[in-house]
Amino acid sequence: MRARYVPILLAVIVLFVFGCDKLTKYGEKKMSIKKQAFGKTADGKDVDLYTLTNANGLKTEIMTYGGIVRTLEVPDRDGNLGDIVLGYDSLDKYIENNPYFGALVGRCGNRIAKGKFTLNGVEYTLATNNGPNHLHGGVKGFDKVVWDAEPMEDETTSVGLKLTYLSKDGEEGYPGNLKCTVIYTLTNDNELKVSYEAETDKTTVINLTHHSYFNLGGHGSGDILGHELMLTADNFTPVDEGLIPTGEIKPVKGTLMDFTRPMPIGARIAQVKGGYDHNFVLNNSGGSLALAASVYEPNTGRVMEISTTEPAIQFYSGNFLDGSNKGKGAVYNKHNGFCLETQHFPDAPNKPGFPSIVLKPGDKYTHLTVHKFSAK
Ligand code: BGC
Repeated sequence: MRARYVPILLAVIVLFVFGCDKLTKYGEKKMSIKKQAFGKTADGKDVDLYTLTNANGLKTEIMTYGGIVRTLEVPDRDGNLGDIVLGYDSLDKYIENNPYFGALVGRCGNRIAKGKFTLNGVEYTLATNNGPNHLHGGVKGFDKVVWDAEPMEDETTSVGLKLTYLSKDGEEGYPGNLKCTVIYTLTNDNELKVSYEAETDKTTVINLTHHSYFNLGGHGSGDILGHELMLTADNFTPVDEGLIPTGEIKPVKGTLMDFTRPMPIGARIAQVKGGYDHNFVLNNSGGSLALAASVYEPNTGRVMEISTTEPAIQFYSGNFLDGSNKGKGAVYNKHNGFCLETQHFPDAPNKPGFPSIVLKPGDKYTHLTVHKFSAK
């Protein structure tokens, strides 16, 4: 062979080997979903824990109990993986006392005043579990039931877990048998997608959401006050003492609620009575996927961007964490995690001015939320 062809041949060999390595990493080698037993509920139901890993090594563990995201490992700016969600070690701890860490929340996330609403002239009374009000689906919401699970292994760009649950007519006071499907997908673009669908056989109300407490510095790294938050929300819904919306929709401009430009969570929190626990009205009024929030943690460089098809997002700054929640080797104190719950507005069934959360037979409830992780 002529000497001048040698570099070309070498280049071809290098390209081939590198290309194959990439293909193996992305297509077959690292992307996986594994199942392990994770205990039993008091009524003897088996609970499983699924570990989803994408081609870049991002990893999440999801339980069939409550559809709970127990861990979520994403890289910092140096490529080091860190677990960025609060959680517990054992199923028993989740059953004992879980402030909705990582959970799927339903049939209606957030509050319904006095647990009452009227549909087609019939008054319904829901379970009350937050003073006089109904919160996050009631005494036994979707966060406390065991979901059926089916791994979705046959994809090439993502790995997923499909969860299904049938909420029976009358459960926690809600009308109608509600068939719910939630699919968690971990993509090779470093996204965690949560996609919801539901159908009912009787007119009902529905407002599903996901309730991870995030700390992008790592779940045991202290408070989240230095995280910079941006919300694409020019308006919010003011609340009364019991955190029930007054029914008004007010501009954030000139208030402590203005996150339209990135702002450290702690910058004004001392002036917000009780801390942030507010529903922000997204500028995209729902239906299509649009950016809702972006969060940056300066020490690790981690960034989380949340896009959603929902019209609102609850920003909760972990105000009720008090050190009694201990998990995964850490103690969670006040403001050690924050939630960004994509949703319809709280107390919508009693507020005619808010977008409706009524679901009728024959119609389909859909909701997609995407959490995209990167570092800078
Ligand atoms: C609510 C808080 C509530 C918390 C429960 C949040 O979604 O907005 O008011 O205390 O969930 O952990």
